Amino acid sequence: MSAHLTETQPASNPLASLDQWEDDLLLRYPDPESIAQGKTKDEYRNYDSPERDTVREFYRLNHTYQTYDFVMQKRAEFLKFDKKKMPVWDAFQFLNQLVDDSDPDTDLDQFQHLLQTSEAIRADGHPDWMVLTGLLHDMGKVLCLFGEPQWAVVGDTFPVGCAYSDKIVYPEFFSNNPDYNNEVYSTKYGVYTPNCGLRNVTMSWGHDEYIYQIAKDHLPEEGLYMLRYHSFYAWHREGAYDHLLDDHDRAMLKWVKLFNPYDLYSKNPTPPNWNELRAYYEDLVAKYLPAELKF
Ligand SMILES: [Fe+2]
Ligand SMILES: [Fe+2]
Repeated sequence: MSAHLTETQPASNPLASLDQWEDDLLLRYPDPESIAQGKTKDEYRNYDSPERDTVREFYRLNHTYQTYDFVMQKRAEFLKFDKKKMPVWDAFQFLNQLVDDSDPDTDLDQFQHLLQTSEAIRADGHPDWMVLTGLLHDMGKVLCLFGEPQWAVVGDTFPVGCAYSDKIVYPEFFSNNPDYNNEVYSTKYGVYTPNCGLRNVTMSWGHDEYIYQIAKDHLPEEGLYMLRYHSFYAWHREGAYDHLLDDHDRAMLKWVKLFNPYDLYSKNPTPPNWNELRAYYEDLVAKYLPAELKF
């Protein structure tokens, strides 16, 4: 199967690469303290470029097709973990088949982003499980290699089965979603109860939930929150959905926030020296993970 997604499925995969979504996050959140309210939101919408248009088209598809039923169907399909069984090191190689059509020479591969994230966490002296969390956090993007469209793999995540927050990027596209007019799903609480806790909330389907489910027996709770909610920007950067949170979520939020800058701001054109790092990471993986992971 070709990983050159734009060539094979231009209509359903508008992004030249998955990184285009993450590059766009940097326009929305140019620094660790900024929040995309008011000025920046308008500014970035007026930001005129072909890349911007592809990101916008990507979100149009994402917001239109991520229905409650769609998510349930994907959960049933992928949480059986009957697609592939492989050691984590093979999984990194597998992930690296996702190549960037737009700029293959200068963009770093998927593994380099994971390694730069984990190395930045390690350099700041955080616990080793958090380093491993950084190394794994985008592993769920292998969904693309199982034939899933970009809008079902990356992009900001959000709860489904209840009203969409206007703090989610491009909220206007939700009016295309059939759930938008559903008499239950369009209400504030939808299928949920007040402050039921995020563990009882179904998120839009993508690489976050998938890697969380793969790793959930192997990392501490704080790391699992980082995996599961790292793209839930409406929560961790915008403060939305307080009505669904419980005290545990509120306690875990600081960990999700701690993780975010390592994901967004650790990109560096110089790749880390893998030969020097290999032994450390082999020990780390062996400490926490089983010999093979099930996808
Ligand atoms: Fe991610
Ligand atoms: Fe990432």
